[in-house]
Amino acid sequence: MKKVVLAYSGGLDTSVCIPLLREHYGYDEVIAVMVDVGQPEADIKEAKARAEKLSDRHKVIDALDEFVADYIFRLIKANGNYEGYVLGTAIARPLIAKKVVEVANDEKADAVAHGCTGKGNDQLRFDAVFRTSEFDVIAPMRELNLTREEEQKYAQEHGISFETEKRWSVDENIWSRSIEGSELEEPSFIPPEEIYQWTVSVAKAPETAELIKIGFEQGLPVSLNGTKMDGISLIQKLNEIGGKHGIGRTDMIEDRVLGYKARETYEHPAATILLRAHRDLEQLVLTRNELRFKDFADKTWSELVYQGLVMDPLFECLNAFVDKTQERVNGTEYVKLEKGVASVVGRESPDGIYSKDVSFDVKLEQEWAEGFSAYHGFQSRMASKIRTATKKK
Ligand code: ARG
Repeated sequence: MKKVVLAYSGGLDTSVCIPLLREHYGYDEVIAVMVDVGQPEADIKEAKARAEKLSDRHKVIDALDEFVADYIFRLIKANGNYEGYVLGTAIARPLIAKKVVEVANDEKADAVAHGCTGKGNDQLRFDAVFRTSEFDVIAPMRELNLTREEEQKYAQEHGISFETEKRWSVDENIWSRSIEGSELEEPSFIPPEEIYQWTVSVAKAPETAELIKIGFEQGLPVSLNGTKMDGISLIQKLNEIGGKHGIGRTDMIEDRVLGYKARETYEHPAATILLRAHRDLEQLVLTRNELRFKDFADKTWSELVYQGLVMDPLFECLNAFVDKTQERVNGTEYVKLEKGVASVVGRESPDGIYSKDVSFDVKLEQEWAEGFSAYHGFQSRMASKIRTATKKK
């Protein structure tokens, strides 16, 4: 009995993988695993029904708490951002892969499988985690390289059908919704409003601004408008109110790991609001030195997440550094939501190192700055004087 555990989403690719794993790869038992990281309930229900029909056995694993606590919260602390992308899909993949490996261990399976193609980033993220185990790694979509027509024909022959033909490829979790494929692959194609489901257009956003207040403790959002909230509820609530104001749409050209450029569209209201507020609070409480160094650490952190290399020892080192800096990131951020824009309009913190009164330290006299001022720019002046002198010769 050869057993394989498949990371299952309910979409065409992963559905086709099930009969392929039996017929093409010779597995006797295919176990489909769905990992709930905040996809719409209807999607999970539909995927479950499909898995029931196609696979030998299936499991839905509720990983939302873990996703928010161990992945999204880390991302907020590290201001996770890759070329302007809030890393929604990227941050979820390692957790999904980890859950699949856990099931494979419990089931004493022979292999683990995913439905990613050979062009994207997700194959790398799944493979990287899968290969930390001893299981064989199978990627039917990548290995068989089927055309869309071949895939659809195969699906039809195996009773795999979808009520409505899906025009876009969507990947969704509590942090972001990513929409790609079909005409969107043409960078000049202007997306129709229908691709967006979490956010309204700026035109439809209310005329009146909404002021919200977010409380942070040790770098993490803990309250909204003075009410304590758990991470999941807070993110859901911000997605709702941010979306209503048309906040958090991204349409960008992104550098994939393999070197292709891709046109990507995303929506992520809560991520936009929280990342902006968090970074602003850091600006108030961290020293200039900490901020400069942390910018670089954050960027490196984001690159590792984008590449799916969260098992790299550097990731743990960076998290330790980030956690240390966050001890002082406490306070309140005032954010105005208006016509597609979330702007910080005020902030306060018991750990703030801003002082209206510079005599907080010693009684500072302005004239003391005179000497400092005279030295300031010495190298620059010298270089430009020499350049002018050589030009004259
Ligand atoms: N480009 C993004 C990433 O690599 C998102 C990919 C999402 N996939 C999708 N089917 N929409 O993280």
